[in-house]
Amino acid sequence: MAQYGNKRSPDSESLVNRSQRLLTVMKNRRSVRSFSERPIPEEVIECCVSIAASAPSGANQQPWSFVVVRDPDMKKQIREKAEAVEKAFYTKKATQKWRSTLQSLKTGHTKPFIEQAPYLICIFVQGYSIGKKGERSPHYYASRSVGIATGFLISSLHQLGISTLPYTPAPMTFIRDLLHRPKNERPYMMLAVGYQDDEYVPPPLEKKKREEYLTIV
Ligand SMILES: Cc1cc2nc3c(=O)[nH]c(=O)nc-3n(C[C@H](O)[C@H](O)[C@H](O)COP(=O)(O)O)c2cc1C
Repeated sequence: MAQYGNKRSPDSESLVNRSQRLLTVMKNRRSVRSFSERPIPEEVIECCVSIAASAPSGANQQPWSFVVVRDPDMKKQIREKAEAVEKAFYTKKATQKWRSTLQSLKTGHTKPFIEQAPYLICIFVQGYSIGKKGERSPHYYASRSVGIATGFLISSLHQLGISTLPYTPAPMTFIRDLLHRPKNERPYMMLAVGYQDDEYVPPPLEKKKREEYLTIV
């Protein structure tokens, strides 16, 4: 029978060393907005989505679904809809403050990465489930649970050397229609997934220092 939980024999390397090594790996992760065409086997994506689906969830309701888009025609359709939404956002909706925040990330309304990345993983939150007689049962802490699963996904891909971009055009309802998702699902996030383009340099960013985010009492 499979052994679940975290039982393991003590390792020769100290826990502190291992945690520091993992920190170095994870701190290297950056969102990538330009991808290479280098292929990634589908099994790898399936495996990482399964890691995401092993995440904890409120009352173990697992309120997520993942649609992996690799079809070029579907990616093209998603890009067209996304860029229409983005154009409205950048020209009309975004406040001046929001626009200047985005300036440092050098983002704009064109989104070539949608077609460049070999995979676009569309993540949905199931706000409720639908029973056999059509009755609805609410899901508890659904968004929080899907956020944790998305973190598992980003982390597992990163540890395999694969880059991601969390992408959230607003509104994102078009993705539910394009992918014919059921009515109890709402789009949570898209994740562009692939190898980083060799020429791409992520924008410089400052992360908070430990004393700014950690309090131990
Ligand atoms: C919830 C969420 C939504 C995001 N949406 C977008 C987006 O729509 N477009 C984009 O270019 N980046 C998006 N990002 C990426 C952030 O801009 C990026 O994580 C942040 O600038 C920090 O950079 P890093 O991921 O390289 O550490 C999003 C990230 C998160 C967590």
